[in-house]
Amino acid sequence: MSDQASREPTILGIESSCDETACAVVVGATRVLSNVVATQHDLHERYAGVVPEIASRAHLERIMPVVREALDRAGVAASELDAIAVGHRPGLIGSLLVGVSSAKTLAWALDRPLIGVNHILAHLHAPLLDDGAGSRAPDPPAWPALGLVVSGGHTSLYHATDPLAWESIGRTIDDAIGEAYDKAATILRVGYPGGPRLDALAQRGDDRAHDLPVAGLDRESLDFSFSGLKTALLYTVCGQPRGRGAEARFPRSADDLDDTARADFAASFQRAAVTAITRKLLRGLERYPDTRTLLVGGGVSANSRLRSDLTALAAKHDLDLRLSPLPYCLDNAAMIAGLAAHRYELGDFDDLTLTAHPS
Ligand code: KG4
Ligand code: ZN
Repeated sequence: MSDQASREPTILGIESSCDETACAVVVGATRVLSNVVATQHDLHERYAGVVPEIASRAHLERIMPVVREALDRAGVAASELDAIAVGHRPGLIGSLLVGVSSAKTLAWALDRPLIGVNHILAHLHAPLLDDGAGSRAPDPPAWPALGLVVSGGHTSLYHATDPLAWESIGRTIDDAIGEAYDKAATILRVGYPGGPRLDALAQRGDDRAHDLPVAGLDRESLDFSFSGLKTALLYTVCGQPRGRGAEARFPRSADDLDDTARADFAASFQRAAVTAITRKLLRGLERYPDTRTLLVGGGVSANSRLRSDLTALAAKHDLDLRLSPLPYCLDNAAMIAGLAAHRYELGDFDDLTLTAHPS
């Protein structure tokens, strides 16, 4: 076993909460030795969304090859690991169970501590990982910080005074922003996964072509709402429906749009979606004026407009902005292992009763 006091731990992380089977080996909280992600996009594409039964079966087939590959790429033997970490909540229960059972088995077989990590909070650790692109790891952030998680399942705002003490201060009351992107992509018929394709299309469009709504909710609220934006896009593209629910018939179809019109809708949607985020962040900064750092993670943090608008906002408000490096925006296990290192330092471990939680 390692001497905790004298050197940083080498931790193997496992992530399986949704449709990526991932394993990584990380030294300390930041130094990524390997980061293997087996995506299942091909399996879910024709359903335009993740099918839970297909996802858990694919995790089961892939998890051990992915673990082996992460160890191989890191050049680390299983016996050299100091701990096993796993994202155990929230997520699809069948998918989470595969990762949690694998992590428990490894921890038991290797006689190493087990650390269960909250997947959403791990997204806030992703901006602090060393992507290997620079010559040295990023400096530790100054606290207090605001944290923004923007993904397919979550749109949440947090406040923290240290890496393990995040307090939830705002969340979506309906769709997550990534879900809204994916639905907007379906409306505009740009394919799956929708977010990146819609982002690319938006870069060619006029973002003022259509005035789509930005939900502010209550004056004091730090919550988000994206379902109205999605519906507004649908009605603007296809016209007011005749009939309700499954019977609804639209006068127009997105199939009739030419490339310019499609790009204009994408850009207008993107302006509204990103503005909804930046407005709430400004409200968050008013409420927490001592904020020094802004940490941003989750799949949608790869979005080009969100990254540039947040860069401008941070410069204006003298904030240290930490955006996730692109390889760590989407679900990955390096963020799980890195966050677990803070708990390892405290000797704060889980036992083999650790379970998967959907929420
Ligand atoms: O974090 P993630 O892998 O999954 C969850 O934990 O939910 O995020 C996936 C989401 C999808 O909705 C995807 O469409 C979106 O992130 N996404 C993007 C971009 N890249 C990925 N959305 C907008 N712009 C992008 N460039
Ligand atoms: Zn995620």
